[in-house]
This record gives sequence, C-alpha cells and structure tokens, in this order.
Amino acid sequence: MDIVVCVGASCYSKGSCEIARGFHKLIEKYNLDDVTVSASFCMGHCSRQGVSVKIDGNCVDGVTAENLETVFAEHVLSPVSCSSH
Ligand code: FES
Repeated sequence: MDIVVCVGASCYSKGSCEIARGFHKLIEKYNLDDVTVSASFCMGHCSRQGVSVKIDGNCVDGVTAENLETVFAEHVLSPVSCSSH
C-alpha cells in the first residue's frame, strides 16, 4: 500500500511535512512494513483545511494532525473495500 502526501504549495502550507511524519510514525507503531509514504505535487484537490493525501489511489482531502489517526485507521488499518457484488 502506498500513502502519497501532497506537498504542493497549498497543502505544504497546511503541514504536509507534519502529516508525512505522522504517517511514518503510525506505520512504525503498527509495524506495517508494506506501507510506504511518498510525496506528490498538487493533486488538484486543494481544500481549505488540511492536506490532501492519496491512500492506495483513493483521495482523502483535509487531513490534519488532529484527524490523522482516524484517517489512518479508516483507510490503512481497515480499508473499506469498494467491490461491487
Ligand atoms: S496543493 Fe495539495 S492538492 Fe493542491
């Protein structure tokens, strides 16, 4: 799984570095060796609050230091599968 953190101007000013560091810490905490964190230019999802990230190809907007753990739990620890039956 790949977590891509936007480091475009808008997201960067809202704390991309802090968010990336936070993801690294959580990955270490849960020993998720197969999850990587990388950076990307503007994803075209600039939101007024927080940073845009892509988790396994899914855009999650508005990630902040406050909701980081929730986002991680929802999208990384127990990703919702969108399979159609
Ligand atoms: S700067 Fe991050 S989505 Fe635009």
